[in-house]
Amino acid sequence: DITAVDAWEVLDSRGNPTVRVRVDAGDATGQFTVPAGASTGAHEAVERRDGGDRYGGRGVREACAAVRDDLAPVVVGWSVTDQVGVDEALVDCDGTENLSTLGANAVLGVSGAVAHAAADATDRPLYDVLAPDSGPGAMPMPMINVLSGGLHAAADLPIQDFLAVPVGADTYPEALETVWEVRRAAGARIGSGEHPPPVADEGGFIPPVADADAAFELLVDAIRDAGYDPGREVAIAVDVAATHFYDADRDRYDLAGETLDRAAMIDRVVEWVDAYPVRSVEDPLAEDDWTGWERLADRIGDRVQLLGDDLLATNAGRLDRAVDAGAANAALIKPNQAGTITRTRRVVDAAQAADWAPVVSARSGETCDATIADLAVGLDAGQIKIGSLARSERLAKYNRLLGIDRAYDGDFAGCDALAPW
Ligand code: PGA
Ligand code: ZN
Repeated sequence: DITAVDAWEVLDSRGNPTVRVRVDAGDATGQFTVPAGASTGAHEAVERRDGGDRYGGRGVREACAAVRDDLAPVVVGWSVTDQVGVDEALVDCDGTENLSTLGANAVLGVSGAVAHAAADATDRPLYDVLAPDSGPGAMPMPMINVLSGGLHAAADLPIQDFLAVPVGADTYPEALETVWEVRRAAGARIGSGEHPPPVADEGGFIPPVADADAAFELLVDAIRDAGYDPGREVAIAVDVAATHFYDADRDRYDLAGETLDRAAMIDRVVEWVDAYPVRSVEDPLAEDDWTGWERLADRIGDRVQLLGDDLLATNAGRLDRAVDAGAANAALIKPNQAGTITRTRRVVDAAQAADWAPVVSARSGETCDATIADLAVGLDAGQIKIGSLARSERLAKYNRLLGIDRAYDGDFAGCDALAPW
């Protein structure tokens, strides 16, 4: 049973404070560190920040105090292996749907640390503890950031991520090697002599272009330079993160100096999909542009993965609505949008039940916590999105997957994990 819970402030990959929680259950112990987004959606569970002057208002002392003073008394005495019971007690203690009383960073901190403590208490790997009774699933296909823009790069390129999907790889280690070659080739095209190109929050290169077409072309060229066939061996995924250049007052998308209405934005996305070997498109429209999403799904939903991040916010109700409306066909899965491990698992289950592909995802602000690697394998998500092959907070997760691949003789999800078109 849980005997003690503690929480304190640590710093994440952007140097901003975040919550680390430790749960003890007798001799067993587990820690989890909460990540943080930059391109956050309005429908995410609420992250609590102190405000005031300390750390520019980004301190999380109040969230840590909520763990110690409000949540710890609720979970002490619970069985550490009863994740569902603990998570329900945590949500009840907060009392709001979006966890705004105590903060989702407080609630998820405890929920994640309980999972780690359960793994330690039962002497099982975390991916096994997180798995259903049928056991863990396949090693996930990674979509790996190569070029970055948007809020992660403070550059002129408004599109957030241009990613490589190594659809020709037969194993998880081969998938990493493949994208490493592509990333190196992209760096060689961007860099000037001895200076490596600058990298953004998730380790992707910041290309000296403002125009989406130039970035797509650069990535296609890098795939070729690395010796791969674009589309057949290495496909492209894109996270447009369109919420952040949508102006609700004018109902317009402001894309690198152009002003596009909904129909023009949809046409633009279709043009990209037609012109480049794009296999997955995330957040091509704003988080509440349901009309736009449905129209776009009608046009390209049968040939590319249409992936909802801000649209769905790892929220069961929004996923249900999107499935009913046919607004997308895949769901990005971020535990801190949901607020507990159990909620996260339920959204993955609901996506799979609807034949939607779940893609487990890191945030742009991370630590070396690698829980999402175990989550992707445990829940058989099939795909994972962590960022680029640089920066230790990214590599901690890629490397954890290499360790899981070594220890556990699972299959590789391969390109079948992406919707089969
Ligand atoms: P975020 O970016 O963590 O800044 O939200 C990740 C994403 O948009 O997928
Ligand atoms: Zn996104």
